Amino acid sequence: MGLGHGGMAAGAAAVALSAASCATGSCHGGPEAGNHAVQSFAATLWATRDPHAKAAETLHAPRSRRMATLLGIGEPHRARQCLMCHSVQAEVVTALPPDIVADGVSCGACHGDATRWLAVHQLPAWKAMSPADRSELGYRDLTEVASRVRSCIPCHVGDGSREVGHDLIAAGHPRLAFEFSAYQRLWPRHWSPHGKTESRPDFSERSWAAGQAETLAATARLLTVRTSRTAAEARTGGDVHGPDFAEFDCYACHRALSPERVAAAAAGPFRNPAPGVPTWQPWSVSAARLVALAIDDPAARSVGPAAAELRAVFGTRWADADAERLERVAAKAAALEHAAVATAAAIAAQETVVLDAQRDRIDATVAADGAEWRFWDAAAQVYLLMEAADDGGPARLGTTLSGGRAQEHTRDTLDALRASLRFPPGSGGPDRFDPVIFDRDRRAVP
Ligand code: HEC
Ligand code: HEC
Ligand code: HEC
Ligand code: HEC
Repeated sequence: MGLGHGGMAAGAAAVALSAASCATGSCHGGPEAGNHAVQSFAATLWATRDPHAKAAETLHAPRSRRMATLLGIGEPHRARQCLMCHSVQAEVVTALPPDIVADGVSCGACHGDATRWLAVHQLPAWKAMSPADRSELGYRDLTEVASRVRSCIPCHVGDGSREVGHDLIAAGHPRLAFEFSAYQRLWPRHWSPHGKTESRPDFSERSWAAGQAETLAATARLLTVRTSRTAAEARTGGDVHGPDFAEFDCYACHRALSPERVAAAAAGPFRNPAPGVPTWQPWSVSAARLVALAIDDPAARSVGPAAAELRAVFGTRWADADAERLERVAAKAAALEHAAVATAAAIAAQETVVLDAQRDRIDATVAADGAEWRFWDAAAQVYLLMEAADDGGPARLGTTLSGGRAQEHTRDTLDALRASLRFPPGSGGPDRFDPVIFDRDRRAVP
C-alpha cells in the first residue's frame, strides 16, 4: 500500500493553522460572487454553508453530550475520539488550541496543513512548483477525483485510528454509509468548477466509480485492521465476541417484527437463504457487485467475487471470537483491498468512464441472485448508481456544468425509486422496505 492511498496517513501532521489564516478578504474570505481566479469566496462559502464548519459545534449539542456520557469519555468537545473526525486533530498531538478546535473540519483537513505553504502559495513561484514539491510542503493536491475521495475517507469511512463502531452508533452516532458521488453532490462547492475535473463530461460517472473503488479498498483495509486486532485479543485470552456489530448488516438485527416480513423473507425471488444469520455489510458487497457490472475491466470483475468470498467466510454464526476464523476474514479482506486498489487504478487510467449499467445487466444479475438484492443497502446502492449514471440528478448546486442529462420523466421515476427507500416517519430503519416494490420501481425508470 503506497503512502497516501489511505488519505491522511496514520500520524499525519497536525493542522496548526486556523481557518482565519485563509479567510482574510483579499485571500479566500471575499464575497460569494467573488474572484474565481483565486477562489476568493472559498472560506466565506465554507463558513456559511459547509457542514464541516459546524462539526465542532455539533460536539456541544445535547446529542453529543448524551453520547459521551453513555460512552464515559468526558466532554465530547475535548474527547480525542470525537475530535479526530470533528476537527483537525491528528493522532500525534495531545491537544489543539481552542480556536483551531472551534473551526471544526477546516481547510487543513482536506488541503493539508498550510504552515509550510501558506506564504509561498500566494507567490507567482507557486504556479511553477511541481506537484511533488508542493506535496513535500504538506499541500494536498485534490484535483483528481481519486485524491478527493481519499481525503474524505478517514472521517467518512474510518481508518483504524478513527472509527465509528457499534458502540458509538448505539450511543447515538449516525451510521457511516459513504458513497462519494452522492456526498460530493450534497456538499456546497467552494471553488469554481470551470477548468476543473468537474468540466469532464464523465465527472459524475467517474466520481461514482472512483468513489466506490476507493471506498471499498478503505472498508476492506479497516476490516483487516479490526479483525486482526480482535484475533490478537482472542489469542491472548481477551473477552471478545467476534467482529464489531457495525461490520454486519444493521437491519438483520434491527428490524420490525411482523408476520408479513417474516413471510416475505421466507418466499419469493428475494428469499433469504440463511434466515437468522447476519451477513457482512451488504452496503459494500453490493457496491462491489455494481462496480463489476458497471465497468468493463478485469480488475473490476475480480472485486465482486472477492467481496463474495469475504462474505462467505464472514457469514456464518459467530458464537465466540474464533481467532482462526478472524484471521481468515482478515486475509479475505486484504484480498478484497488488493482487488479494489487494482480497480481504482484501472478507473484512474481510463480515458472516460461510461457507466455501462445497462438495465438488462442489472436485470440479469438480480434475476440470477435475488437473495443478494433483498437488502435495503443493496437497493440504495443501485439507486445511487442510477443517479450517477444520470449525471447526478437535480442540479442542486446550480453549478452543474452540463445541467444534468436527466430528462424530466427520468427524474420523476428516479424520485419514485428514492421514495421507495425512505424510512417510515418515526422509524430509524427500512421497516416497510420491500425488494419486490423496489424492483418494480427500478424497472419503471426509462
Ligand atoms: C476531518 C474529517 C472529515 C473529512 C476529511 C471530511 N469530512 Fe465530511 N463530515 C465530517 C463530519 C464530522 C461531518 C458531520 C458534521 C456535523 O454535522 O457536525 C461531515 C459531514 C459531511 C456532509 C454532510 C452530511 C449530511 O448528512 O448532511 C457531507 C456532504 C460531507 N461531509 C462530505 C465530505 C466530502 C465530499 C469529503 C471529502 C472531499 C469530506 N466530507 C471530508 C468529517 C469529515
Ligand atoms: C470516524 C470519524 C468519526 C468519529 C470518530 C466521530 N464522528 Fe461524529 N460524525 C462523523 C461523520 C462523517 C458524520 C456525518 C455523518 C453523515 O451524515 O454521513 C458525523 C456526524 C455526527 C453527528 C450528527 C450530526 C448531525 O448534524 O446530524 C453527531 C451528533 C456526532 N457525529 C457526534 C460525535 C461524537 C460525540 C463523537 C465522539 C464520541 C463522534 N461524533 C465521533 C464522523 C465521526
Ligand atoms: C472537506 C474537504 C475540504 C475542506 C474542509 C476545504 N476544502 Fe477547499 N477544496 C476541497 C476540494 C475537494 C477542492 C477542489 C480541488 C480541485 O479541484 O483542485 C477544493 C478547492 C479549493 C480551492 C480552489 C483550489 C484551486 O486550486 O483552484 C480553494 C482556494 C479552497 N478549496 C480553499 C479552502 C479554504 C480556504 C478552506 C477553509 C476555509 C477549504 N478550502 C476547506 C476540499 C476541501
Ligand atoms: C448482530 C446484531 C446487531 C447488528 C448487526 C447491529 N446491531 Fe445495533 N444493536 C444490537 C443490540 C443487541 C443492541 C443493544 C440493544 C439493547 O441494549 O436494547 C443494539 C443497539 C443499537 C442501537 C441503540 C438503540 C437500540 O435499538 O438499542 C442503535 C442505534 C443501533 N444498534 C444501530 C445499529 C446500526 C446502525 C447497525 C449497523 C451498522 C447495527 N446496529 C448493527 C444488535 C445489532
